[in-house]
Formats: sequence, C-alpha cells, structure tokens
Amino acid sequence: MGNFIKVTERSRLREGAGRAFTVDGRELALYLVEGTVYAVENLCPHQHIPVLAEGEVNGTVLTCPMHGWQYDLTTGRSVNASSRLTQFDVRCEGDAVFVSIPDEEEAPWW
Ligand code: FES
Repeated sequence: MGNFIKVTERSRLREGAGRAFTVDGRELALYLVEGTVYAVENLCPHQHIPVLAEGEVNGTVLTCPMHGWQYDLTTGRSVNASSRLTQFDVRCEGDAVFVSIPDEEEAPWW
C-alpha cells in the first residue's frame, strides 16, 4: 500500500481546471470535477509530455493541450486510443486532499 500524502486543500482547486503538484518526486495533476478530486500523473501517454494539468476538462473528460487526446478521469482510459493515465487514489478530510503514492515496487506498468 502506498502512503497517503497531503497535497493541497480542496479550496485551492478550481472546478473543471487542472493543477500540477510535485509529490514524492512525481508530478501529479489534480482536478476538481463536480466536487470530486481526481489525481493522475501529469504525463500524457501519447508523447510523455507533462502537460495534462493544463488540459481542458469537460465533464469528466480531459483533453490534452498538445494533440487533443482525451481521457476519462473516472477510469483513466483514453476516449479515442488504447492508452491509459496513471491514476492515484485520493482521500479528502475536510478541506485537506491526500493522494496515495505507491511505493516504487508497487507502481503498475501501463
Ligand atoms: S502529448 Fe498529449 S495528445 Fe500528444
């Protein structure tokens, strides 16, 4: 099991917009969508460019700003390709947002 690490406060996230954070050496992108916080690695699987926090969010669909690949934040799956985002478990306690960062040996291969 990874450790839950406090990353930010929910009140610092903007509905429908991403924000990048570096946590435990990993760059994450967090999104607040209809009150739910989602955390993914800030790397687009298409060309491994760390830009997803700058992507546009419509509903739960995130669009990469580079070439327009789209991902469903609820599943991490690409809408129009066979790739998938690396997702992280999120826990909120009051305003605090915690993200589970897996240990290196637990990290899944995508
Ligand atoms: S790098 Fe994201 S769509 Fe190309």
